[in-house]
Amino acid sequence: MATMEEPRWTLITGASSGIGAELARVFAERGYPLVLAARRHERLVALGAEIRRNHDVPVESLAIDLEDREAPRDLHDMLLERGIAVHTLVNNAGFGLRGYFASLPHERQLAMIDLNVMALTSLSRLMLPGMIERRRGGILNVASLAAFQAGP
Ligand SMILES: NC(=O)c1ccc[n+]([C@@H]2O[C@H](COP(=O)([O-])OP(=O)(O)OC[C@H]3O[C@@H](n4cnc5c(N)ncnc54)[C@H](OP(=O)(O)O)[C@@H]3O)[C@@H](O)[C@H]2O)c1
Repeated sequence: MATMEEPRWTLITGASSGIGAELARVFAERGYPLVLAARRHERLVALGAEIRRNHDVPVESLAIDLEDREAPRDLHDMLLERGIAVHTLVNNAGFGLRGYFASLPHERQLAMIDLNVMALTSLSRLMLPGMIERRRGGILNVASLAAFQAGP
């Protein structure tokens, strides 16, 4: 007997602009239902409307500030409340500071670590057990070629 395949919900962080928004369009084109997360909710809603016009996939938009250490857990709980099991996690939200380490604002340096490192780690830790249990899914981390280059 054929079984109904579970929806391949894809959570994209930082979907309100740039690479994250483009990845949302690409996943939607391939039929993946989407959860779009970022701080600028109005942008997520606009992108969700655009995607729904062009593709037959459900789209949820969640406003969240992932620099907040509690945010990954909150996001995870919001998904549980909606009955959404994440099939693919795209850790894309992030930013890079340019300048001298010794003079860049320290709060921004710590915020960068909270977003680029802590949120990515926590979201992966929260989502991966479900993927392993279901024996399906994946995690895509958007990083930078700068990681492979020597810097002064
Ligand atoms: N473009 C490049 O050349 C390049 C190079 C190296 C690495 N990257 C990496 O690629 C990823 C995407 O870059 P991009 O160029 O597409 O940048 P972008 O257009 O600035 O997009 C960054 C995304 O992250 C979200 N974001 C930022 N702070 C957030 C926070 N505190 N909580 C939740 N979401 C937050 C932003 O949404 P909100 O502002 O609405 O929250 C936005 O959707 C980033 O991780 C970036 O570091 C990009």
